[in-house]
Amino acid sequence: MRKRFVIGNWKLNGGLAANAALLDKINLGVGINAGKTEAGDQSKSCGVCVPSIYLAQVQHQLADGFVDWGAQDVSRFAAGAYTGEVSAKMTAEFGCRYTIVGHSERRAVFGDSDAAVAEKFGNAKNAGLAPILCVGETLEERIAGRTEIIIMRQLRAITDKFGGAGLDGVILAYEPVWAIGTGKTATPAEAEAVHAFLRAEISKFDLEIAANIPILYGGSVKKSNATELFAMPNIDGGLIGGASLVAEEFLGIWHAL
Ligand code: PGA
Repeated sequence: MRKRFVIGNWKLNGGLAANAALLDKINLGVGINAGKTEAGDQSKSCGVCVPSIYLAQVQHQLADGFVDWGAQDVSRFAAGAYTGEVSAKMTAEFGCRYTIVGHSERRAVFGDSDAAVAEKFGNAKNAGLAPILCVGETLEERIAGRTEIIIMRQLRAITDKFGGAGLDGVILAYEPVWAIGTGKTATPAEAEAVHAFLRAEISKFDLEIAANIPILYGGSVKKSNATELFAMPNIDGGLIGGASLVAEEFLGIWHAL
């Protein structure tokens, strides 16, 4: 059985006091759910990806709880004269389980190329972090019927460098750019079609990895649409932006998993 995830992506949001209050509520809500089974339900996992400057706070607050945490990005470099950067190795020191790489906002706003994303991906793996690799097409690309071409270009940047085996232990996130922060969610059927396509393509590299890789959907997931999205056979949870900042919404999504 593939593991299922609900992971928050706080983006450039937060503050010490607000984080503390939000994390408390999430930890409590997820803990109550996990408490239903003896050691917690190992088949699913809840986490938050926070601005790196808050990792120490999050580690401190979540250390004894049921919620995992990670970063939203890591440097493409390992160390050296790169002002402002945070390396994967530094990130891993704060108990992170994972880091997002290749989010569309990084690609579009900060110019992360496929090659840069592949370097970040490699650095994350080397540091023992599971990359949450984001792929997704823009509205123009979807209308032009290029969705599969675009997401395969983004995926091949990884497999060309690391082989199909490089996808072992990775969490994939399909995030159509037109659905991120817009309130426009892909329909369950639209998302499922892309997820099934991705899994079929990955099975050409390795059947076992394809069967086990969690493929999360991201883009305006809310508690009101999570249940129908998560009911799709190839949707293994969600990467949640805006709704991850409101405990009640985020927990509603978690309970839908
Ligand atoms: P959203 O963002 O849920 O606010 O659409 C998702 C994401 O960018 O990961």
